[in-house]
Amino acid sequence: MRLPINLLSLTLSILPSAFAIYSDEAYSVDYHHELLGLPLPHTTFFHRPRKDEKATLLYTLSDLGVLGAVNPGLGTVVWRQLLAGVVGNETGFLRPVQGENTVVSAIGSRVDAWDAMGGKEKWGNIFEGNVKDLEVMETAAGAEETKDVLALFEHEGKSILRRLKGESGNVAWEFEDGTGDVPLQVSTNVRSIFIVSLHGAWGGYNLKITALDPVTGKRTNEYILSTKADVHSAEDVLLVGANSAAPIIAWTDKALKNLKVNLLGKAGDLQSLPLKESDGPIVNVALHAPNLVQSQPHFLVHTHSSVSNRADVYHIDLASSSIKKAYELPKLPGQGAISTSSQEANVYFTRHTADEVVIVSSASHAILGRFPLEFESDHGSLLDGVSEVVQRDANTYAVRSALVTSGQDWVLVRNGKAGWIRPEGLSGAVAAEWAEIPESETLAQTLEAEAHSNPLSAYIHRVNRHVSDLQYLPGYLQDLPRRFLSSILPGDIVSPKPGVLVRDTFGFNKLVIVATQRGRVYGIDAGNQGSIVWSASAFEQPAGKTWDVKGIWVEHSKGTTTIRGADGEYVMFNTTSGNKIEAMNPGSWPATTSTAVVDSPSGKWLLPIGVDGNPGEVPTTWAPKENLVVKGSNGEIKGLKFEAGKENAQPVVTWTFKPALGQRIINVVSRPAHDPVASIGRVLGDRTVLYKYLNPNIVLVTSVSDEHSTASLYVIDTVSGDILYSISHDGVDTTQPIASVLTENWFAYSLWADVLPTTETLPASKGYQIFVSEMYESDVANDRGPLGSAANSSSLEPSDIPNAGPALPFVATQSFLIPEAISHMSVTETRQGITTRQLICTIASNNAIIGIPRTLLDPRRPVGRDPTAAEMEEGVFRYQPYIEFDPKLVLTHKREVIGVKDVITNPAVLESTSLLFAYGIDIFGTRVAPSAAFDILGKGFNKLSLVGTVLALWAGVVVLAPMVKRKQINGRWTTS
Ligand SMILES: *[C@@H]1O[C@H](CO)[C@@H](O)[C@H](O)[C@H]1NC(C)=O
Ligand SMILES: *[C@@H]1O[C@H](CO)[C@@H](O)[C@H](O)[C@H]1NC(C)=O
Ligand SMILES: *[C@@H]1O[C@H](CO)[C@@H](O)[C@H](O)[C@H]1NC(C)=O
Repeated sequence: MRLPINLLSLTLSILPSAFAIYSDEAYSVDYHHELLGLPLPHTTFFHRPRKDEKATLLYTLSDLGVLGAVNPGLGTVVWRQLLAGVVGNETGFLRPVQGENTVVSAIGSRVDAWDAMGGKEKWGNIFEGNVKDLEVMETAAGAEETKDVLALFEHEGKSILRRLKGESGNVAWEFEDGTGDVPLQVSTNVRSIFIVSLHGAWGGYNLKITALDPVTGKRTNEYILSTKADVHSAEDVLLVGANSAAPIIAWTDKALKNLKVNLLGKAGDLQSLPLKESDGPIVNVALHAPNLVQSQPHFLVHTHSSVSNRADVYHIDLASSSIKKAYELPKLPGQGAISTSSQEANVYFTRHTADEVVIVSSASHAILGRFPLEFESDHGSLLDGVSEVVQRDANTYAVRSALVTSGQDWVLVRNGKAGWIRPEGLSGAVAAEWAEIPESETLAQTLEAEAHSNPLSAYIHRVNRHVSDLQYLPGYLQDLPRRFLSSILPGDIVSPKPGVLVRDTFGFNKLVIVATQRGRVYGIDAGNQGSIVWSASAFEQPAGKTWDVKGIWVEHSKGTTTIRGADGEYVMFNTTSGNKIEAMNPGSWPATTSTAVVDSPSGKWLLPIGVDGNPGEVPTTWAPKENLVVKGSNGEIKGLKFEAGKENAQPVVTWTFKPALGQRIINVVSRPAHDPVASIGRVLGDRTVLYKYLNPNIVLVTSVSDEHSTASLYVIDTVSGDILYSISHDGVDTTQPIASVLTENWFAYSLWADVLPTTETLPASKGYQIFVSEMYESDVANDRGPLGSAANSSSLEPSDIPNAGPALPFVATQSFLIPEAISHMSVTETRQGITTRQLICTIASNNAIIGIPRTLLDPRRPVGRDPTAAEMEEGVFRYQPYIEFDPKLVLTHKREVIGVKDVITNPAVLESTSLLFAYGIDIFGTRVAPSAAFDILGKGFNKLSLVGTVLALWAGVVVLAPMVKRKQINGRWTTS
């Protein structure tokens, strides 16, 4: 019979040719923490995006410069925009436009207006200088035009106020203050605009108030408040009321005994309000005032001592400009959190204490609502936040508040009950490391112990062990039906029990330890959708400082995690529980510039490396066995070796590498710690072999010259310091990201540079490119080069001939054009390295992570011709200069993973699979199978039908066997 070849090929062509990931696995094996950063009190608010609808959204511009809208009912992100620049530490401002579907943000030198509902940009402008404050101008009641925006800038020591048109963001007028005063804030009541600046003086500042005409932007008045004794920095000014009927400016005297208040625009007016102490001296004073022009001019002064807090409510009489105390809120233990909420003229204050939530009106001390606080204390105490008070009917009020806790969570409290919890402290991760879950069973150890004892006691021990194992038998038997069913029915392969940390047979259940810039450490369960297992504070970071983590080391056998920071601090945690075992505060040890996990006669440990790349002396028993590569303080890199003395071992510099004049080293990468090589050669189509150059002691160094726009890459032997390979590129944009990675016998890097016209049909141009180079022992197949098959070799004396140069690898390179910049590169890791590695690239402009298969990046792809039969057998196909970032390559699918700093990978027990974890602002994790999941059945595999088929076959055999037998017997009888 002839095979229907045409039909067969048609069938095959219909099948999809490649799968990046099985579609049924997307969104089930991967997880994503969509984070914003910690909300700041002055840029967080509830706002109604649609005028006619009651529903509000919660808006924030976080400490990481992420602008986001959150659904206050569910705690889910509605939209996000990453606004922070490269530095990422600028202070941002965010204001709602009352009655409009707009929020306005300002950060760095940009001011943008956003569609409050959908998050689309309405307009955006970039100005000279840095934004210092932002306000929305109220229009006269009834006016229909879009509200204008006031943006205060500081540029080269001068302050500039710009009034921007509400519909376009264009400048209506500009006011420049020629003096060198430091601009602080801008404030407005419909009649005037006030600029508050710090007026320079020795030892302190006076406050200068400049009043402007809103229409023309001309100065109408200016006066100076003498505050030299009390105000020493911008932080000493407590509040400049924004956009209210009677904006005020307030500060405290140095001893925190009196609050001084000036009504903006009233030159001679200075009122002093006494601050009342409760339980010891006051440590902090805060002011809360409404932000609406139509709200009553009331404000609240919140004071707290180290153990308790209390508050006073004041009313401003607009006619006489006097300030009167209306009532007091009693002293209560704890720090407390107070937030303001205004509804037309009414102003409500919501007070959160350790055990209850109280609503009061600013008009009188009557309590409008009181709810017991039901909130788990493991998120910490409530620090500050925003509230929304709603009047249900004449006497009932409801309140919901979004508050930041001392555990750096963002929580919603609805009438005292906990709603959603967003782990915003997890954002801003600066370092992460994989951790194995410690094995509960120590069977291996027990077996080893039995092997080393005498036969009789080993036998007794073994019988005892089996007897004690019997206690698990009932549980095992009980569990059998479930195990049987779960192995037949389709469903999740690993069904993790929440709250239980156990290893699984596939090696998917692992922890990731994450350290954040705010000094917190998290344990994340990668096998359970990235849930947070524990979190702990390592070191409280002072305001404006970020934790500079230099190394995390997880000691799997002991179950501990050590973290070292730049200021010599170090902390050790229990990997599974997060308990702090040991800690050394910053400054107690010398500064650390980097760390390395080293192997010594006493075991592995995390070696801190000090300034100028000097690790200092270590005890001989702890001396690292391997060579180290460190960065010197003059931009060079050095090779170090420890020379053992009697007691201590000294680091000795064995070589120094300095790039050419004008170049600076931007990156040094080495092969991953776990980088197994399954095959030492590459088999070609004609069954000959190219032997891989597999030197474990190499690093890839990237250096750039900003002046000449060049980038050079060097492969350096870390033992001898010899340069094994180097290449240089011209026309490089050194401000664009340059990423590189080194593994097995190949390395890859990407940059923006001139495209050489050598590649097929490509004109000379510029673009983002990725370069891939493979290193072989020789360019001739079946040749092992100068080293031959020697079992050992030395980098220092490569051959018997004296003064011979090093054995240089043969390097095959190819370049490809890519559509976008790669900000970070890493490579998958599998258990034995049999699976082809995949290049993992972070595309910051698209908020995506992609995995590029190695076959696409093969330098041996034939250029300008179709592959020969032998090449086809080898698996290479025709070279195409462009690599498209096909949606199939995108590991993050539709998810927007923002601010990725680094992607770390780890092998699973299954050879096919590598675990991947990305961190930065967001957290993202997934599993990748670069050569397809060849050792595990996909979720779509129908086990039931397999069992059904087997059963049907069995039934068929049972029924047919006697019939066949009978037929055979009958046949014999009839023929003979
Ligand atoms: C931001 O960081 C830069 C350098 O990292 C520093 O010079 C600057 O003062 C920082 N700005 C703020 C507002 O913290
Ligand atoms: C870590 O904590 C777990 C659970 O509390 C405990 O069983 C284990 O012994 C601890 N490990 C260390 C090294 O302290
Ligand atoms: C290297 O191998 C040779 C034999 O092939 C042996 O004599 C020599 O001692 C080895 N050197 C080292 C450092 O192991």
